[in-house]
Amino acid sequence: MPALVLLGAQWGDEGKGKATDLLGGSVDYVVRYQGGNNAGHTVVVGDQKYALHLLPSGILSPGCTPVIGNGVVVDPSVLLSELSGLNERGVDTSKLLISGNAHIITPYNVTVDKVTERFLGKRKIGTTGRGIGPTYADKINRVGIRVQDLYDESILTQKVEAALDVKNQVLTKLYNRRAIAVDQVVEELLGYAAKIEPYVADTVLVLNQALEDDKVVLFEGGQGTLLDIDHGTYPFVTSSNPTAGGACTGAGVGPTKISRVIGILKAYTTRVGAGPFPTELFDEDGEALRRIGGERGVTTGRDRRCGWFDAVIARYATRVNGLTDFFLTKLDVLTGWEEIPVCVAYEIDGKRVEELPYSQSDFHHAKPVYETLPGWSEDITSAKSFSDLPKNAQNYVKALEEMSGAPISAIGVGPGRDETIEINSFL
Ligand code: GDP
Ligand code: IMO
Ligand code: MG
Repeated sequence: MPALVLLGAQWGDEGKGKATDLLGGSVDYVVRYQGGNNAGHTVVVGDQKYALHLLPSGILSPGCTPVIGNGVVVDPSVLLSELSGLNERGVDTSKLLISGNAHIITPYNVTVDKVTERFLGKRKIGTTGRGIGPTYADKINRVGIRVQDLYDESILTQKVEAALDVKNQVLTKLYNRRAIAVDQVVEELLGYAAKIEPYVADTVLVLNQALEDDKVVLFEGGQGTLLDIDHGTYPFVTSSNPTAGGACTGAGVGPTKISRVIGILKAYTTRVGAGPFPTELFDEDGEALRRIGGERGVTTGRDRRCGWFDAVIARYATRVNGLTDFFLTKLDVLTGWEEIPVCVAYEIDGKRVEELPYSQSDFHHAKPVYETLPGWSEDITSAKSFSDLPKNAQNYVKALEEMSGAPISAIGVGPGRDETIEINSFL
């Protein structure tokens, strides 16, 4: 059976949590392959609302095994509090598997993230302050701490020493902060070891065996295509690869195993943190999208920047991810606008540009070229099939599909599991 990837086609917060949860009941494994608790995935099940940061959204589907892959960065304190929060609400989390090769977000990584942002001042990225970038930097610098290191005190101590050697120089001499004591960090990390141990597994082996056994594996991306360290709006990105290729490296599954790549696409655009955003609105339309769409960050509580749909970005997401389908979310939020502008191209230095420019400077001053589509006023939240949608909503979806380069196989008309129109089955 196939492996599917489900990922954000824009700047994150497209509704990946809801989409993953929807499929969770029909798949055997849901795997996070990158990122960490910078993610905020909201899942609404009946009258219950869950905000997941590190755990895969499949954790809410009883038949499904949730997996934290090797490409994820794990803050052990967040992991344990998220697990106990779910347990208190009656969710069984005992099936969770965590890769022994996943890297640990240490307390000093969180400190470095915050201090670096403060030091950057006006040039800051607007990170979530969760230690994501510094932890991936340690991984690449080969001074990272992995989950498996928690089970060898001597190795752990040596690695923390090596990591803090340089960091303490930087913290004390450059940032004027107090040095971090090795013993204290080691003690804190060892305190988590026994609690995490039951979940630690060779997830690469488990997942490949599952695929051999015809099980269905769903890879759930965090963040989104434009936040990808390689393909996003660098440097205003996260420090991992949310794009489809990241699922292979971040879970240890070969590309030949992946048969479907689903891009989650919001019917308009949002972004949290700094960086270019051509269709951003600073007027009452932007304010209305934020209010109606509830566009406030799940992780940091920051207001999300809002703007019209950008087809240039959607086409780009189709290309860099090899998308086979889109899941269009939050169409209901657009109800009530008489006309809805959609960005079909950019104008850069007086020239019309149809594709995302590779040059950062060009993208920073790209102006959106809009086409205006007629809106609808009917409530669509109870629509169950495409034909239940008002004609203008149908036309909006069809226009987006044509511009974006992949079929729209599902449409979200509300936050709940059942507030979804399925056009083509994903499984
Ligand atoms: P994620 O990070 O991609 O999982 O997305 P978030 O959870 O951060 O943000 C998406 C928000 O939109 C959440 O509050 C969801 O409950 C909500 N949502 C998802 N799909 C829909 C939809 O089709 N319509 C509406 N109105 N809300 C949705
Ligand atoms: P989900 O999975 C939206 C943004 C931050 C910042 C940049 C780098 O809910 O879609 P980081 O802490 O990762 O180093 O911050 O990336 N960012 C997100 N924006 N949704 C997310 O996750 C995000 N995770 C990180 O706001 O601009
Ligand atoms: Mg989110």
